[in-house]
Amino acid sequence: MEINDCSAIVTGGGSGLGEATVRKLTAMGARCTIFDIKEEPAKKLAEELGKGTNYVVGDVSNPDDCQRAVDQAAEGGKLRIAVNCAGIGWIGRVINRDNSPHDLKSFQFIQNVNLIGTFNVMTRASSAIAQTEPQEDGSRGVVVNTASVAAFEGQIGQLAYSASKGAIVGMTVPASRDLAVSGIRVCAIAPGLFDTPLLGLLPEPQKEALGQSVLFPKRLGKPSEYADLVAFIVSCDYLNGEVIRLDGGIRMPPK
Ligand SMILES: NC(=O)c1ccc[n+]([C@@H]2O[C@H](COP(=O)([O-])OP(=O)(O)OC[C@H]3O[C@@H](n4cnc5c(N)ncnc54)[C@H](O)[C@@H]3O)[C@@H](O)[C@H]2O)c1
Repeated sequence: MEINDCSAIVTGGGSGLGEATVRKLTAMGARCTIFDIKEEPAKKLAEELGKGTNYVVGDVSNPDDCQRAVDQAAEGGKLRIAVNCAGIGWIGRVINRDNSPHDLKSFQFIQNVNLIGTFNVMTRASSAIAQTEPQEDGSRGVVVNTASVAAFEGQIGQLAYSASKGAIVGMTVPASRDLAVSGIRVCAIAPGLFDTPLLGLLPEPQKEALGQSVLFPKRLGKPSEYADLVAFIVSCDYLNGEVIRLDGGIRMPPK
């Protein structure tokens, strides 16, 4: 699919992988709507990039916010691309050190943002994309969701996070089947360790050590490499219903 002249919505577009995606798609001629819970970075990025880049402040776990963001993305042109990058991490074991159970509220909170948020935007964006004129080959658009290698090798303390990302992996095939009739493809990317503000809080030596744990190349992933894969998925019409690991070959150990 041609990226030039499409509208795109990118959740979590104010930072990290989402920001890199907004930069890449804009450079390739798309008009991006950044949908983020934080106003400042979204506004700053939209002003820096220009070219119709706009933003919506809202919470992906709130369906009304998601509808508002999708409506805005669809207003300025043909919405063809939805990329779900908004997500948060959490540390908590099945039972705590004192043998008390993982608290339900934090587990639900992570599912609400990472899983329900992806569901909210995927369903609403797909509904808008399905109402656009198809291209000559019948295609209308692409949804790219963000899982994690933690969907496959969740580490100690990643119960809630891995559950949310595993569900994103699980939605990929049924979503691509549901949406095939509308000419919409669905893929997910499962990143390994990427150098984003999510990891940015770690001291440099710890980041270096994490990079050394990657098979090859021995470094953290660059957000631009994630964005390159998003652009490739959108451009390559034969990619559908697939979860792609982007991880330098890393297989996460228990801790
Ligand atoms: N960085 C990594 O190593 C890594 C690895 C695997 C998976 N991921 C996944 O990639 C995605 C992006 O991560 P990142 O590293 O770019 O993180 P990040 O913290 O740099 O960016 C996440 C963005 O999402 C936004 N956000 C958070 N909660 C939101 C909500 N409820 N509604 C709307 N926006 C919200 C934040 O404001 C932020 O701008 C996440 O889903 C994360 O789980 C990241």
